[in-house]
Amino acid sequence: MSVNQLDKKSQAWSALFTEPMSELVQRYTASVNFDQRLWRSDITASLAHAEMLAAQGVISAQDWADIQRGMAQITREIETGQFEWKLALEDVHLNIEARLTQLVGDAGKRLHTGRSRNDQVACDIRLWLREQIDLLGALLRDLQTALLDVAEANTDTILPGFTHLQVAQPVSLAHHLLAYVEMFTRDAARLQEVRQRVNQLPLGSAALAGTTYPLDRERVARTLGMVDAQGAPCLCQNSLDAVSDRDFAIEFTAAASLIMIHISRLSEELVLWMSQNFAFIRIADRFTTGSSIMPQKKNPDIPELARGKTGRVAGHLMALITLMKGQPLAYNKDNQEDKEPLFDTVDTVRDTLRIFAEMIGGQTHPETGQKEGGIAINAQAMENAARKGYATATDLADYLVKKGLPFRDAHEAVARAVRAAQQQGCDLAELPLAELRQFHASIDADALPALSLRGSLNARNTLGGTAPAQVRQQIARHRARLQNQTPPPAPL
Ligand code: ARG
Repeated sequence: MSVNQLDKKSQAWSALFTEPMSELVQRYTASVNFDQRLWRSDITASLAHAEMLAAQGVISAQDWADIQRGMAQITREIETGQFEWKLALEDVHLNIEARLTQLVGDAGKRLHTGRSRNDQVACDIRLWLREQIDLLGALLRDLQTALLDVAEANTDTILPGFTHLQVAQPVSLAHHLLAYVEMFTRDAARLQEVRQRVNQLPLGSAALAGTTYPLDRERVARTLGMVDAQGAPCLCQNSLDAVSDRDFAIEFTAAASLIMIHISRLSEELVLWMSQNFAFIRIADRFTTGSSIMPQKKNPDIPELARGKTGRVAGHLMALITLMKGQPLAYNKDNQEDKEPLFDTVDTVRDTLRIFAEMIGGQTHPETGQKEGGIAINAQAMENAARKGYATATDLADYLVKKGLPFRDAHEAVARAVRAAQQQGCDLAELPLAELRQFHASIDADALPALSLRGSLNARNTLGGTAPAQVRQQIARHRARLQNQTPPPAPL
């Protein structure tokens, strides 16, 4: 292939081709408009490859020095926006290689020894994705911290817990928020598992069958930080598989979809809780928008959009799955279509996590260092709502069971009591003891504490339960976990 020839628009690919591509076909096949964002990974991987070629005596020390000099110049050009990306050069790889050759001559032409764009692109995506995974891990941690801060201030705030969106039993608001912390904990763990399979070296596979040059793949893997927890290099073990499969991108997008699904559940609750009928929370004005016609409106656009963007990320998962399906070994150009869904998935999840961490936890005041402007909790409205729905009926049934009644009989007796309270438009706790006793003679004055919201909460004092004492322990566990989490290695 002659990259240099391609530098002049509309020229044919190499001496083998008799006619140039039309403008339309060039645009159709080019990926440089979107894959240029891989440039830093592309240069990093090229340098690791070239360093190894020199160490193995495949290229000279002078070539290696020239390649380093050229790549440093290209890095500066790209960083300062001076690099000229050319559609005729199709993709990020050919653009950088052509410029390198322009800058350093033959050394640039030797860089591609023992390499193909097929293993090159697979390596670039893996390096790029590894960095994004680490960033998302840090953002998930920020969001969890924001949720923990609100939880810590609200271990004793009573919220009606719902099943079927009907008031079920009172729960601690902190307990409810910690449910999301659990989800995001699993999301972070899933990303870490995916990371291990992303962080494997395809270079050395060349086009599909491996290469005739004496490459030291382990050296390249070490240079690129593609090593396991023990520091052993992680290499893709089959060249055909290495250049063709994108299952790592698919499983990343599946993990990303789950993050968004969890975000969408949280969003749905924030939207509900913000509505006048609930009035449980307020979110800062900068995360809401007004209506162009109704002056009184403040709409929860951010949670709504996040809920909507969940569809977009799940769509990308479908796109990638469908892209891979039925592809014969080895590399096929279909795979160029992996990038836009993957990039958009990362962008969407990254922005969403950033916004949610701030919307919930607030932002740090530059002078006081205190967080402010996070979600505002209306504890009274939550407690009032919990009081409305006979949320402690189960507690009365449990009380009767402890007095020796079979649970089903207790359930029935309390159902009759609830009906009576409904008819009188009052809560169970507001029925006089004498009246409660009509539903079962075992109901004594000591039943009344069980009927209070706080009594109900405190009674659920088993691991995973909503009693504030349990919830405080969970908060401490999560705090310790986040503190002990080792930060990811700095990007190369
Ligand atoms: N732009 C291509 C991609 O994204 C790079 C690999 C091209 N390889 C090839 N043999 N045409 O997949």
